Amino acid sequence: MHEARSVASPEMQRIDVSGLCKTFQLAGTAIEAVRDVSFSVRRGEFVALLGPSGSGKSTVLNMIATLVKPTSGRILIDGTPVVPGHATPNVGYVFQRDTLFPWRTVAENIGYGLQLMGVPAAERKERISACLKQAGLQDFGNAYPSALSGGMRQRAALMRTLVVEPQVLLMDEPFGALDTHTKIEMHDVLLRIWEREQQTVLFVTHDLGEALTLADRIILFSARPGQIKESFAVDFARPRNAVKIRETPRYAELFQFIWHSLGEEFMKSRSR
Ligand SMILES: Nc1ncnc2c1ncn2[C@@H]1O[C@H](COP(=O)(O)OP(=O)(O)OP(=O)(O)O)[C@@H](O)[C@H]1O
Ligand SMILES: [Mg+2]
Repeated sequence: MHEARSVASPEMQRIDVSGLCKTFQLAGTAIEAVRDVSFSVRRGEFVALLGPSGSGKSTVLNMIATLVKPTSGRILIDGTPVVPGHATPNVGYVFQRDTLFPWRTVAENIGYGLQLMGVPAAERKERISACLKQAGLQDFGNAYPSALSGGMRQRAALMRTLVVEPQVLLMDEPFGALDTHTKIEMHDVLLRIWEREQQTVLFVTHDLGEALTLADRIILFSARPGQIKESFAVDFARPRNAVKIRETPRYAELFQFIWHSLGEEFMKSRSR
């Protein structure tokens, strides 16, 4: 059941990472976080990076997002090298913690990126209202984040990134802080948006169930230094239902298969 897909032609690759390494210097000590990581993500593909805590997942995502400079290696988006410190057009980032501004209403938070882009007020209003509807927040546009539940805040944060219509979405455990049921509800929200918009998604998680529910392919990272241990194709039909998929025998089968390999890395990371 290992990687079964045929290799796509290079022009289909939206994200192409090769020989990526990162060593941090921390108080005079070198910490090798990522070692020789290479992978590609096809246009419209949903890929999960799965691995234990400290395995370099966020570091890889941050390098692709140009927030961290690689020690060595190459990152191409649509065939063009990314430049550390310079945002790449059409790339959106959803962070682990919701990053809403508490002093702005939900609508103002969602509209922030559009405002920065100089989108005229009337169009902004229309796009914000479409996003509020998609996220089931149409009655909360004028509310402040403090009046929302954790799941609602996370939906608003997701929309804040999606409203500018990025074609590449980098997501770092965006639902990590949510309880199981709210998380599954968010999976359905994301699946419906992705089915419609077909963004290319790179989704970091340490939650195997989440990776199986969402992704076309799972890239499993080893314990630090993060290296690609294995890749798995996730062959559930689409559209997927985030609740029902967990009840299928195939889900149980894949879960058990990957869990063993992930478990080995959890154990290694604990003993370090
Ligand atoms: N800015 C930094 N300075 C020094 N070390 C860092 C820095 N950022 C990350 N590291 C180290 O790099 C390693 C990988 O960290 P990273 O955050 O990428 O892991 P992760 O897989 O995202 O873990 P988690 O699942 O806990 O979020 C860790 O050992 C971490 O301490
Ligand atoms: Mg992380």
